[in-house]
Amino acid sequence: MKKILVTGAYGLVGTDLVLALRKKYKRDDIITLSHNTTHNQFDVISEKGDVRDGKNLEKIIKKHNIGTVYHLAGLLSVASEKNPDLAWEINLGSLKTILDLAVKYKFRIFWPSSIAAFGSTTPKINTPQRTVLEPTTMYGVNKVAGELLCQYYFLRYGVDARSLRYPGLIGYKTPPGDGTTEYSVHIFYGAIKENKYTCFLKKDARLPMMFIDDAIYGTIKLMEAPAKKITVRTSYNFGAINFTPIELVNEIKKLSPEFKCDYKPDHRQKIADSWPKSIDDSQARRDWGWKHKYDLEKMTKVMLSQLKINPPAGRRK
Ligand code: SER
Repeated sequence: MKKILVTGAYGLVGTDLVLALRKKYKRDDIITLSHNTTHNQFDVISEKGDVRDGKNLEKIIKKHNIGTVYHLAGLLSVASEKNPDLAWEINLGSLKTILDLAVKYKFRIFWPSSIAAFGSTTPKINTPQRTVLEPTTMYGVNKVAGELLCQYYFLRYGVDARSLRYPGLIGYKTPPGDGTTEYSVHIFYGAIKENKYTCFLKKDARLPMMFIDDAIYGTIKLMEAPAKKITVRTSYNFGAINFTPIELVNEIKKLSPEFKCDYKPDHRQKIADSWPKSIDDSQARRDWGWKHKYDLEKMTKVMLSQLKINPPAGRRK
């Protein structure tokens, strides 16, 4: 079998994805690429390197006879605002490098887009698959450009690149990254560690969200779908639940009645304001059978119980 390469393997999506792929494939079929392999927690093959280093990427792709790349390495929205040049290089430059290598070595690609591809001029409720894309963050600009690049390489060179517009993702196996929807992960750490949390978004900031197990299930399902079912070559709208910080707080309080949250919205609120509140993902549901399983209640139960078993203090930073 041709091998699978996962970049950004230690991030929020990568960690859960590698573990899920490992259940389906043998150890030697999965290769992770990370600039830091010191915390090698997976029973797979690990390679060290920077995704901006095209020569190293090519060497790894040839050496392991790669058939699929999950290219997950990237900076989230807040990190990208702090360093827009670096965001451009990592989020977009490395995607272009991988697409070029896919033309040469004929492998398939998964690349994550985001609800950040949308902007303030996009309809916010049930945001349609095909709509205005005028993001105002560097991260969003990277995502729109990347989506168009994936479609271009498909149309021009036949590269089988597939993509999902991830909503805010909530998981417990790795600490939250520097993003806007990530309050929804930080909040659980606050609840477990000290029964309180100060939220950097307003209490009524509604955003599209998804539990990580659903995201991983959908990602693998998209990649396993026959190519003829894939009618969107930019990126699929990908929805599950949506909620506001206060709705999440109320859900946490059902299980941890002592939990307290206050709200100090900062610069991240502006980013949240530019994003949709809910997503119409009917195209993904029709084309390749996307279906989510976790609602707010079920997700909250799993997050609290898992973080209680493996409390944040003992976790990798
Ligand atoms: N979680 C991401 C962020 O807020 C959205 O794709 O940056």
